[in-house]
Amino acid sequence: MGKSEIENGKSLAPLGTVRASHARVDIGTRKWYHAGKGVFDALYNVLGVAETLDFDGVNEKISVAAARKAESIGKEVLLQGWARTRRDSKGGFSFIELNDGTSFGSIQIIAPAELANYESEVKNITAGCSVEVRGLVKESPGAGQATEVEAAEITLVGGADPETYPLQKKRHSLEFLRTISHLRVRTNTFGAVARIRNRVSFSIHQFFQENGFFYVHTPIITASDCEGAGQMFRVSTLDPEKLPKNADGNVDFAQDFFGKPTSLTVSGQLNVETYCAGLSKVYTFGPTFRAENSNTSRHAAEFWMVEPEIAFCELFENMDWAEEFLRRIISDVLRDCPEDMEFFNKFVDPTVLETLNHVLTSDFVRLPYTEAVEILLKSGKKFDYNVEWGTDLQSEHERFLTEEHFRNPVILYDYPKDIKAFYMRLNEDGKTVRAMDVLVPKVGEIIGGSEREWQAGVLEKRMREMKLDPADYWWYMDLRRYGSVPHSGFGLGLERMLMFITGMSNIRDVLPFPRTPGNCEF
Ligand code: 4AD
Ligand code: MG
Repeated sequence: MGKSEIENGKSLAPLGTVRASHARVDIGTRKWYHAGKGVFDALYNVLGVAETLDFDGVNEKISVAAARKAESIGKEVLLQGWARTRRDSKGGFSFIELNDGTSFGSIQIIAPAELANYESEVKNITAGCSVEVRGLVKESPGAGQATEVEAAEITLVGGADPETYPLQKKRHSLEFLRTISHLRVRTNTFGAVARIRNRVSFSIHQFFQENGFFYVHTPIITASDCEGAGQMFRVSTLDPEKLPKNADGNVDFAQDFFGKPTSLTVSGQLNVETYCAGLSKVYTFGPTFRAENSNTSRHAAEFWMVEPEIAFCELFENMDWAEEFLRRIISDVLRDCPEDMEFFNKFVDPTVLETLNHVLTSDFVRLPYTEAVEILLKSGKKFDYNVEWGTDLQSEHERFLTEEHFRNPVILYDYPKDIKAFYMRLNEDGKTVRAMDVLVPKVGEIIGGSEREWQAGVLEKRMREMKLDPADYWWYMDLRRYGSVPHSGFGLGLERMLMFITGMSNIRDVLPFPRTPGNCEF
């Protein structure tokens, strides 16, 4: 344990094996906090390693998640968190529901009226207050909870005026909660989303690390448009009021910070490909930015993407990786977040568990784009957008295929070259490219990927066709000139994955602080 972890010296909060005996007497005064911390720091400096300090007689600091487990029964503990509710019983004591975010469920604290500060402090504890509790973990007589804590000491650390605190014990709409994104993590729904987001992010690293991939940090600021869709956020230090112009009247970007136009990246792929051509299997995982002005429930201006890139890998192997990857994430979440997942299944979307379990056990359908278009045309369904060969599929088409027609995740591949990015490998038909999109129920496209064009000549021709100047991509072209290999990769949108797993239907509710058109509060 490091010194910096002693954040709450007021009680010399015993972390791990550290126990501070005087913690019981110093409750309530900031002076003691500093004095106690000073003593502790001095001891720490003398002894060096905090674990060797062994004060006796003070409760072990544990999480609410740990206190809720039957193994904790009989332990004297210190709990710290936020009150969800307080109820006063006729019997002259109170119940406080305490949550610290470590688990979906809260723990019930019994506060006896005998506590010295019962009237003055405990009875002022309302929803949102931060609270410290020392007490004994006991078996709970109540249904649905293994334990409860009988408090010997309760401290109100930070108040939350019930007149103004916006999260009262009732159901709030997701729309309302978006207006208080700084507080919404304290609700059941957003706590659960945050824990699942954390678990999925960890799984992403685990999956790739365990499979021999190297994590590469690709830049956020870039001068190239990977997807060629022109939906980039400009990065500039030029004064918009006084833009320097060159002789022909255009903005003189030579005077900008980087000496040329630059933007926030839409994808780390081009950069990660360079590391793939030396490390064989790599992935990048970070924020990406798209200035698409589409105000949909599935698009964010800032989102996280994980992009593996695999050398000596063709399209079908790429699909195998994508399938295995998605299954791995799902099985980790189902195993490690059962309480959160039960909540989503009960209150958000009653089909999520069934859908996820189905994905774990069934192979994805693999279907060329051309056949998908035929299925859509023959379906007899009325779509808002017409389908014909050569057009990009809309979300309604993708969802019809995966939700109604196949009732399975679907990997569409071999798309018309004109609707896909320049870097995708051209098929022999000269009309389609080795692209793949993974479609899942409710969300539609969750992964986009491809086998890359690895022949310099073909790539150069494709770039010119798409009005890109190969000279601007000289370093990317070099990969095709020196030791080029067939290679493939894909991008999974983290938020789309979270929507799929949780059943949350708006991307704004799986991002801690969503950035969407017209919205950049917090
Ligand atoms: O299909 P996309 O555009 O593919 C790429 O960017 C490739 N460079 C990936 C690669 O091959 N390395 O985006 C990949 C995924 C989409 O399938 C979707 O899940 C997500 O990123 N995505 C978005 N998520 C949220 N908001 C947006 N505006 C998104 N745009 C794409
Ligand atoms: Mg795509």
